[in-house]
Order: sequence, then C-alpha cells, then structure tokens
Amino acid sequence: MEYSEKVMQHFMNPKNVGEMEDASGVGTVGNASCGDIMRVFLKIENNVVIDASFKTFGCGAAVATSSMATEMVKGKTVEEALTVTNKAVLEALDGLPAVKTHCSVLAEEALRAALWDYATKNDITIPGLEPPKEDGHGH
Ligand code: FES
Repeated sequence: MEYSEKVMQHFMNPKNVGEMEDASGVGTVGNASCGDIMRVFLKIENNVVIDASFKTFGCGAAVATSSMATEMVKGKTVEEALTVTNKAVLEALDGLPAVKTHCSVLAEEALRAALWDYATKNDITIPGLEPPKEDGHGH
C-alpha cells in the first residue's frame, strides 16, 4: 500500500495526541467493520476552537487523519470547523489508498461528535451539524 509523504509524517510523528482534561466537547466514534475507535477532544472559547487533541485505538491512517484534522480545526470557529471534512483532510494529506478512506471518515465523525457534545452542553445550535451516530455502530 502506498502512503503519501504527508500521511507518513503524521503517522510517524502525530500532532495533538492525548486526552484533554478540561475539554469543552468530547466525541467518540467507532467503525464496526475494523473495530477501531476514535476520540476527539476540543477546547472552545468564545466560539473558537483554541485546542484540539485525539486518542485512537486505530490504524496508522486513522492516526494520520486525526492528527491532520485536529491541526486543521484549531483556530476555527465552531461553524468553520464543519469545513474540516474527511475530503478536506484527505486533500491536506495528499490522499489515502481507497481502502483507507473510511479511516478519515472516522476522524470527521469524531470531530463532529465533539462539536455536538459542546453544542449540547452549552445549549447552542451549530447550523449544518447533525447529531452523531451512536457509539460503536460505525457506518
Ligand atoms: Fe479502521 Fe483505519 S482500518 S480506522
């Protein structure tokens, strides 16, 4: 399987790994077919994502996409954060082998689940944000 150089960089040296104690929102999703689990933590102040981190029990591509997704979301408003889709993450990583696309979907879903958690806790609506699928059922 051929990985781009950027995927390899983020896999070998991932950014934003670890739990966040004072996260404003936490999202956990799983993929039923591979069994991998992804958790994203967001710290949000004044409607802006000021920090993001992740923890994953997942494959290398899941690590690389979460690393990139958490990098991309930092500094964005919660509305802008929705532009960090799996497609945007894939483009930023110069693509992934087709069989690994679902791994980047996991990163997007975890990110959105964390935004949903934040929105629910603070009683706000983020236009365009759908409630996450139930944990562990994947897609
Ligand atoms: Fe499951 Fe990549 S193989 S997230």
